[in-house]
Amino acid sequence: VIIASDQNIVAQKCADIIESQIKTLPDSVLGLATGSTPVGLYTELIKRHREHGLDFSGVRTFNLDEYVGIPENHPQSYRTFMNQNLFDQININPQNTCVPDGMGENPLDAGPLFEKKIKSVGGIDLQVLGVGTDGHIGFNEPTSSLRSKTRIKTLTHQTLEDNSRFFSEDEFQPKLAITMGIGTILESRRILMMATGESKALAVREMVEGSISAFFPATALQLHERVTVIVDEAAASELQHKGYYKFVGKLQDDLIKKHRPSDW
Ligand code: F6R
Repeated sequence: VIIASDQNIVAQKCADIIESQIKTLPDSVLGLATGSTPVGLYTELIKRHREHGLDFSGVRTFNLDEYVGIPENHPQSYRTFMNQNLFDQININPQNTCVPDGMGENPLDAGPLFEKKIKSVGGIDLQVLGVGTDGHIGFNEPTSSLRSKTRIKTLTHQTLEDNSRFFSEDEFQPKLAITMGIGTILESRRILMMATGESKALAVREMVEGSISAFFPATALQLHERVTVIVDEAAASELQHKGYYKFVGKLQDDLIKKHRPSDW
């Protein structure tokens, strides 16, 4: 758990990890998230691409989720979000970017197809995640199976209400989404969980210090061997062992300065 002073530092620290990943393995497979949390990270990556030539030409990406029933070019689709906030502004090959297909003839086929695509490139090296206030990761709503694979999920009333602001009153608002499963996420080699702001403080506490439960899907990350949780002070404010995480951070910084492992 890394506690940064504010959301800009969170974005920079996450960008450092992604930059190091891409430089170590130029054909890395990244798992990406949408939502407000990673926007600062994407802005930072664009900046590093423009100013320092961070090279995405060999990178492949898989997004966590997509709405069912709205076309790719819909202003609220997650494909549009990714194009606007990242892909169109870096040198990634658009054919190397994969967002679940929410418009396929049979939406039930989209999950297994997505899993197959991830496998065909050797799995995800680094998965970026945000967390919902109810503990969801991707669109894995509370009570999602902790071993689930990419599939259709029905959104909760809370998520529908939260997202309704993005759709006009007479517009179709999707009630279904395709999402990587919790099992899919746990298969990534490394996970980078970001959370910022006071509204995420209770979710962060539950995720890091709570009991593992399908009722709070983000707790499943406790089962993964390599998760880095990067939060700002506001999102860290409810952590019971906050002082300990800071202490660990300091000792690890000293260790890294001394030995500089190649993958950090
Ligand atoms: C989106 C996603 C979601 C969000 C979560 C937090 O691809 O996977 O789980 O990460 O809803 O959203 P924000 O960042 O908007 O608070």
